[in-house]
This record gives sequence, C-alpha cells and structure tokens, in this order.
Amino acid sequence: MTEPSSSAPAGSLLRAPLHPAITEAMIRTLVTRFYGRVREDRELAPIFAAEVDDWDAHIDTLCDFWSSITLKSGRYHGRPMPVHARLAGVRPEHFETWLGHFRDTAREVCGDVVAPLFIERAERIAESFKLGMFYRPDRPWPG
Ligand code: HEM
Repeated sequence: MTEPSSSAPAGSLLRAPLHPAITEAMIRTLVTRFYGRVREDRELAPIFAAEVDDWDAHIDTLCDFWSSITLKSGRYHGRPMPVHARLAGVRPEHFETWLGHFRDTAREVCGDVVAPLFIERAERIAESFKLGMFYRPDRPWPG
C-alpha cells in the first residue's frame, strides 16, 4: 500500500489548494474581469442578461465556485448542471466562446503557471455541461 509521503492527515491532500499562489483576491479579479468580457460578447451577453438580475450576487456565487475548486474552501454549495440545463438559447458552440474569454482572462490575471490549472478545470466542466445539455445517444458527438 502506498502511504502519503508527508505526515499530513489522510485526505488532506485532496483539500489542499491547487497551487500556493492562488488567492481569493486573484479569483475575484479573474471572475470580475471574465464576466466583464462575457457581458460585452455579442452572443453570450443576451443569454446572461435574460437570467442575471443581480450581477454582484452572480459574481459572489462564481467566486465561491472557483474558491471551492481551486482552494478547496467548500464555499460553493450549488448545483450548476440543472441551472445550465434550463437556459434558453444556448448552443454547443457558445461553450467555445465562453472558454475563449475564460482562457484569455486566466492568462492575463493568473500568469503562466496558475492559468492552466483554472483553464483545465473550466474545460472539463464545460465538456460535462455540454454533454448534459446536448448529448443524445442517437446522434453523433460532438454535435
Ligand atoms: C455557454 C456557456 C455558458 C453559459 C451561456 C452560461 C450561462 C450561465 C447563466 C445565465 C447563469 C446564471 C443562471 C441564474 O442566475 O439563474 C450561470 C450560472 C453559473 N454558471 Fe454558467 N454558463 C456557461 C458555462 C459555464 C461553465 C463552463 C461554468 C464552469 C466552469 C459555469 C459555471 C456557472 C456556475 C457555478 C453558475 C452558478 C450556478 C448556481 O446558481 O449555483 N458556467 N451560467
């Protein structure tokens, strides 16, 4: 059996931040700038405008989400899949646009070492949302 090399309690590695340079302040800057871009995007802006009344609350939720993922803070308790499944007007290609803005913002805010950690998670989650929203066993994938 392989033992953890440090004396840390079992399970604590799973709760460790993805990288020591990640901070709540970095996450807030990333999330705020990212949604600034989304709100200027011709395709994405109307989808968000139809759903989000309180942008400060949305940004707080997304900061909790990214804090939970990258700092393992446990601050996010939502279930994002059903929220996306009921969105009107989203097409599979919107995810590439969403990811394009996310990659650009992460590289700008987080630097070369940390940005890929955020981007990799965003890509995986985007793929899972896309599958949940659009995958049909009787049709070819990707759609
Ligand atoms: C085409 C791509 C996407 C669109 C159009 C989109 C749109 C939206 C909208 C409109 C909301 C607000 C819903 C509401 O307040 O009622 C929302 C919430 C959210 N989105 Fe997305 N989203 C996209 C992709 C993603 C991806 C890839 C992630 C994660 C990496 C993500 C994470 C979240 C989270 C965590 C929430 C909050 C859910 C909650 O209320 O707990 N979204 N999204």
